Amino acid sequence: MDLASIRRAYKRYAGMYDVVFGAAMNPGRKLAVATANKRPKQRVLEVGVGTGLALPLYRRDITVVGIDVSPEMLERARDKVDELGLRNVEALLEMDAENLTFPDQSFDTVIAMYVASVVPHPERLMSEMRRVCKPGGDILIVNHFTSDGGPLRAVEFLINPLSKTLGWRPEFDMKALLRTAGVEIKNIRPAHPMGMFKVIHCRNTPALPMTGTIGTDIYTDVAEPQLRPAEIGRSRRAR
Ligand SMILES: C[S@@+](CC[C@H](N)C(=O)[O-])C[C@H]1O[C@@H](n2cnc3c(N)ncnc32)[C@H](O)[C@@H]1O
Repeated sequence: MDLASIRRAYKRYAGMYDVVFGAAMNPGRKLAVATANKRPKQRVLEVGVGTGLALPLYRRDITVVGIDVSPEMLERARDKVDELGLRNVEALLEMDAENLTFPDQSFDTVIAMYVASVVPHPERLMSEMRRVCKPGGDILIVNHFTSDGGPLRAVEFLINPLSKTLGWRPEFDMKALLRTAGVEIKNIRPAHPMGMFKVIHCRNTPALPMTGTIGTDIYTDVAEPQLRPAEIGRSRRAR
């Protein structure tokens, strides 16, 4: 994946994006924004804002800044802001999520929905999200991650070589992302359809050193959808 192929892919998608990727991926957006909405009157950065499908979901006393590398996707987001009169959207800017131009600690919450498996270097995305987020602020990631097995896993494997054309990586390892994230993970929740997408809620405080067992320690699926902070503490003390 590189920025040129990403821009090409999303130029192609822009006109049909809301129809194809709107409703099916809305549960993840709703869950993440509902989490952000718990803190009133804050400043939120939405990284990879796309066509702005999540913008109407924020409470109106939250100020939102959105960035994206695709001018065509941003154009759709700007149309939504105008049509819906979203006066709480401070700015929609063309910017690379891996090289944000904001000063350190500019935002209370930073959200990336369906972006982590798209950017060329997910670890740089995480590092920039942490940098511009205030200490103790929230970092929310919504994404599809490599399935544990079944027919979906086979499909991911087969179409993974098409990543550049698709504009996202069908195979994307959550444990690897979390190891590089270096933040405290509050919980990981599945979002429909069929729990295919996960919403990861992190706090921007340094994580304790992670070991190779972190994935199995913290990752719980649909049967136990929430990892409670107390459980994280227990699993860390056990190491
Ligand atoms: C799958 S779309 C998700 C859009 C939106 N977040 C949503 O929920 O529909 C991925 C978006 O990330 C953007 N993107 C990819 N790489 C980026 C980067 N390095 N910096 C900023 N935006 C990026 C793409 O242009 C695209 O709009």
